[in-house]
Amino acid sequence: MNINGRHYRTIWLAADGQSVEVIDQTKLPHRFETVVLKTVDEAAHAIKTMQVRGAPLIGAAAAYGLALALRADPSDAGLAKAIAFLNEQRPTAVNLRWALEEMRKVLAPLQPAVRVAAAYTKAATLCDDDVETCRSIGVHGLALIEAVAAKKKPGQPVNILTHCNAGWIACVDWGTATSPIYHAHDKGLSVHVWVDETRPRNQGASLTAFELGRHGVPHTIIVDNAGGHMMQHGHVDLCIVGTDRVTRNGDVANKIGTYLKALAAHDNKVPFYVALPSSTIDWDMTDGFKIPIEERSATEVLQMTGRLPDGSVATVDIAAPGSPAANPAFDVTPARLVTGFITERGISAATEQGLISLFPERRRAR
Ligand code: MRU
Repeated sequence: MNINGRHYRTIWLAADGQSVEVIDQTKLPHRFETVVLKTVDEAAHAIKTMQVRGAPLIGAAAAYGLALALRADPSDAGLAKAIAFLNEQRPTAVNLRWALEEMRKVLAPLQPAVRVAAAYTKAATLCDDDVETCRSIGVHGLALIEAVAAKKKPGQPVNILTHCNAGWIACVDWGTATSPIYHAHDKGLSVHVWVDETRPRNQGASLTAFELGRHGVPHTIIVDNAGGHMMQHGHVDLCIVGTDRVTRNGDVANKIGTYLKALAAHDNKVPFYVALPSSTIDWDMTDGFKIPIEERSATEVLQMTGRLPDGSVATVDIAAPGSPAANPAFDVTPARLVTGFITERGISAATEQGLISLFPERRRAR
């Protein structure tokens, strides 16, 4: 998508042809900076500290991180060690494991001498595939927005609520939850997005609002607690969120606070859709309560970062010294609260049968 008239992906090969360059998301929206990753340690650090974040993008970053690791040690032991190391950086998004397993399948059978080149090629393919997958999610999701728009009075926008950032910045391009929105906007439909700020790290206020704004999509930031009120008063036509892991039965792990939005949507009969690439489905996990939930640092809750009037960026304490904080980074929305899944192969019910109808190759042998 575009930033200041220039098309960007979130990850690309740096000018030296070997290092990997990413947009540093910890600096947005106040500064647009990129960071060059030269080693597997730097790639792991970028994933852990959320310089890169969002389920599909951490998978892509891990794939390139593995290529960087193999430059130093392409042996069988080096491959296994790097995969384990990258995999442990964030526990909830299954895309990380998925991307590393895709890499392993290609690399493990090869001689060490040819692994580095093959790793770069495969990582690039995973990135290209992610772009096409997210584009397809948008094409399928567009139909949902068009259906709502058809019932509106002329000139009235379709109001869509989203949580966290499941935008192009969280993927390689397009985004998952935002892809239908970009497709609708680009087609000339009137859309307006309610952007949950998404405490504690404010991915909504800092990232989703940033990318929607740069693409010209009308949007309004709301505090996390406002969503229920907006739905009660008829201001939300549709919720679309992303996810870090969907289990076989259709349960959905996503950024903390998603569950509360799904409850409010259910109570107010607002359709609640989850947009996802199939790489986010954990076919081996039977239900969402088995998903490991990342617990992040208390300082993310106890502090906030923002821009001062002089343009400098500062971090401030927002609680009295000494108060502890808990910071579960994700929650699980039960499948029964989800209206449907928007995937690269179409839209399905949020059930095992629904998923299998789109991905019949995943049917269990009886
Ligand atoms: O902790 P984050 O910012 O990586 O969490 C991101 C989310 O929860 C997204 O909604 C999810 O990864 C989907 S991204 C297309």
